[in-house]
Amino acid sequence: MAELKKIGVLTSGGDSPGMNAAVRAVVKTALYHDLKVDGIYRGYNGMVNDMIEPLDKHSVQNIIALGGTILKSARCPEFRTYEGRKQAFDNVKRHNIDALILIGGDGTFAGGKVFMEEFGVPVLGLPGTIDNDLYGTDYTIGYDTAVNTVVSAIDKLRDTAHSHDRLFIVEVMGRDAGFIALRSGIASGAKKILVPETKTHIKELMDRLQQGISDKETSAIVIVSEGDDFGGAMEVKKVVSEKFPEYGVRVTILGHLQRGGSPSAYDRILASGLGYQAVLGLLDGKKGAMVGSVNRKIVFTPFDKTIKHHDKINLELKNIAEILSL
Ligand code: F6P
Repeated sequence: MAELKKIGVLTSGGDSPGMNAAVRAVVKTALYHDLKVDGIYRGYNGMVNDMIEPLDKHSVQNIIALGGTILKSARCPEFRTYEGRKQAFDNVKRHNIDALILIGGDGTFAGGKVFMEEFGVPVLGLPGTIDNDLYGTDYTIGYDTAVNTVVSAIDKLRDTAHSHDRLFIVEVMGRDAGFIALRSGIASGAKKILVPETKTHIKELMDRLQQGISDKETSAIVIVSEGDDFGGAMEVKKVVSEKFPEYGVRVTILGHLQRGGSPSAYDRILASGLGYQAVLGLLDGKKGAMVGSVNRKIVFTPFDKTIKHHDKINLELKNIAEILSL
């Protein structure tokens, strides 16, 4: 590749807490190595429509604790077309950007891969999503914060569940993956966790709740992950309320609450380390890969693999959750 002088950085897809810490790490590491950085605003939109501005030390001051993304994020249908990507390339060239760091999920990397193949601009990705569903990293940037947000919400719901002898069915995000549900379920002592990765047998849930009632439990929390095959918290509520009218069943859908907020220390550290490694990776000639952390080691996983393979949930954790909720 031509000598690396300037990096473009963007955030794309759903925002996640820690994206700002990653941007900060990219900028500071690049400056340390005498490289320039341009911020590309609103994901691929900024590349296509020339929303590109230089970033310096001051641009990233005081952002380490901020949720969301100072670079903003958006979906960009134009980038799905060759014409859109060509326009993006012309802008990248005009700004003398030599390489890109993309912070986002598999959709972001799929776009980056095509762009790199068509126009030869080296690209590296950083895993930025609350869903934790990316192959090639143990944790994605934002996941830990999202789990903590869910746990603190459920702790509050439990107060009401206990006071009023109620059953709360809590729906959490995750797109088609149950990572948020599983860990937050263990951490909040959920009675049952329904995830998309395993088929939901509603009878098992009923038996578990029945057993709770027989054991004189007066309240419970059930977590349903978005994408679960039974159809979400409202569907579960319908069947549960019919069978257990003695419980006042309530549904809470946590929704986008899970995406915002100040990143946890864990997410800040992960984002800082990965942002730093991405710049070193580009300097070292690496491209077409996502930078992740696996067993506390930095790993560059080719986009092909991250896009094709969904990371798998740990079924051992599901067993632990089942036993501890008895
Ligand atoms: O990928 C992050 C995520 O929050 C998913 O958990 C969820 O399915 C989706 O994004 C929601 O997307 P939107 O913000 O476009 O509604």
